[in-house]
Amino acid sequence: MVVSEEIIVRIREANDIVEIISEYMVLKKLGNNFKGLCPFHSEKTPSFIVSPQKQIYHCFGCGEGGDVFSFLMKIDNISFVDAVEKLSKRANINIPHKLSLHNDKSLRERKTLYDLYEKAMNFYSDFLLHEEESVLAHKYLKSRGISSQIINKFKIGYASKRGDVLLKKFLNKGFSVDLLKKAGLISFSEKKKKFSDFFWNRIIFPVFDAQGRIVAFGGRVLDSGLPKYINSSESMIFNKRKILYGLNFTSSRIRESKKVLILEGYIDVLTGYQYGLENVVATLGTALTKEHINILQRYAEEVVIVFDSDNAGISAALRGINQLIDSNLKIKIVSLPQGMDPDNFLRKKGKEAFDNFLKNSLSFIDYQFKIASKDVDFSEVEGKIRVVNKILPMIVQIKNEVEKREEVRKLAERLSLAEETLLLELSKINKSNKFKTKEGFLSDYKEEKDPLIERDILQILLTEPVYIKQVKEKICVNDFTGEITSQLIKYVFKLASEGKEVSFHRVMDYFGDEKINQIITRMILNEARMRGNKSEILEKLLENMCRCKITKKRNELEKEIKAMLSGEKEKDLNKLREYNDLTKQLKGSQRELRVL
Ligand code: GTP
Ligand code: MN
Repeated sequence: MVVSEEIIVRIREANDIVEIISEYMVLKKLGNNFKGLCPFHSEKTPSFIVSPQKQIYHCFGCGEGGDVFSFLMKIDNISFVDAVEKLSKRANINIPHKLSLHNDKSLRERKTLYDLYEKAMNFYSDFLLHEEESVLAHKYLKSRGISSQIINKFKIGYASKRGDVLLKKFLNKGFSVDLLKKAGLISFSEKKKKFSDFFWNRIIFPVFDAQGRIVAFGGRVLDSGLPKYINSSESMIFNKRKILYGLNFTSSRIRESKKVLILEGYIDVLTGYQYGLENVVATLGTALTKEHINILQRYAEEVVIVFDSDNAGISAALRGINQLIDSNLKIKIVSLPQGMDPDNFLRKKGKEAFDNFLKNSLSFIDYQFKIASKDVDFSEVEGKIRVVNKILPMIVQIKNEVEKREEVRKLAERLSLAEETLLLELSKINKSNKFKTKEGFLSDYKEEKDPLIERDILQILLTEPVYIKQVKEKICVNDFTGEITSQLIKYVFKLASEGKEVSFHRVMDYFGDEKINQIITRMILNEARMRGNKSEILEKLLENMCRCKITKKRNELEKEIKAMLSGEKEKDLNKLREYNDLTKQLKGSQRELRVL
């Protein structure tokens, strides 16, 4: 990294971490800190802490932690340099140009792709708007009821029938075949033995990320040809699992209404938006993923999944829904009447009818019940068992006990079973542990191998560096044996001996390491562990550490002395003296050796 330390500090100080994080999620004040649902893992009770005083965050659920830069890197999936640039702009701080950007290869490649896609978008869009050849495309869009405002807003375009217009134009502009191929804008045809445009004779839908950058394209045929859609393949800036089509336009409305409608396709989003549903998104032909849910959790409290009524769609989307139970989102599901999707429902019946229809949405469990009980004969015990076996494992996952009991009651009523029977079954599932939630996944953080005593000393030094002198008098860097603690203490001592101010931000900046960020932010925000007079605690820790050190040394000497006694080694009175000295230091609990 080449931006100077001083500029980093200035940029960090100019961007309040609470403000920045609040742009992505809801934070609530809690004592000195702020608390919220972690955007990096699914959870129902908040364990994500942000400290305005310390300007760091830490999730006590999943272990994520860091400063404002690492938050942006993680949440926007950008590099450190990108985060620095973004925050410097936000705070109006100039980064001397020669210092910035130029040595980050992957960043350069990403920027190249974004720029290229932006140009390609303009190309397709200009083509639609200005080329005579686009008449049919216009006609098609019109037949789908898509207005010119929507075309402009969503930057819809058209790829020519001719099949090499983009290729020629972009070669002329100086782009290489290699790059165009890598970006998925052209492809090699084995049959014709030459390169041609990847998209031809298709309506082009640019796919935006949440920040509004174009990361891919989708192309639809104008007729009933197959495949109906083709999408750019995944790249370093495009991961289908993380993209929700439309979100860049709809996120603010989603946040306001705290509710999001998840639809199935590009056209559904466009029509929805045009009809005034401004809180819609669509997945790109994938089931809902954990990543999608983590993203939506930042904006919404309620998710309504709107299915086309065809079964393939339902089962595809359901695969993702299991992920939702474990999140904090309230889930509703609604399937449209036979043969309809949101697009043609809205166009046939209008927004009011659509809104009304949404009132039929079912809770997740109710919906599952409906699916599970299709073609099941409830007069037979077997049928009941089948449904119970399907639904109870889902009920088990509900974290709110009141809600859980209510679902059990409903299920019992529906199946004419005694509630007690179901509760008994429920407790069996609980015990069998088959449906473990993911909360245990931090265990590898807890099992840090570095000695606790070293971590405790560091915790004090990093929060209150005034004690460094006290520590330096008693121990040296080599006394630390942990893999990470030894590195940290080395750097802390180095800063101190160079007369530089020691701060945890400086230490995190120096290492620039995710794991170290996590460890340090937890130390800093885990105040409960360190209640009381720091100086006294530290004195005890140091004393313990010294005892350990002495005991270790003494044990080594003892071995040597035993070897001397048995004649395996030459006698050395100095060693005996040293051994006795150490023993005295351990304050008499051990017996002195007097004879050799
Ligand atoms: P229209 O027929 O234009 O209304 O499209 P739709 O949005 O209703 O499409 P559909 O419900 O058939 O599919 C939903 C989404 O799945 C689309 O928006 C695409 O993202 C994706 N999809 C559909 N067909 C294909 C396909 O043939 N290939 C790929 N890669 N994706 C598809
Ligand atoms: Mn459709």
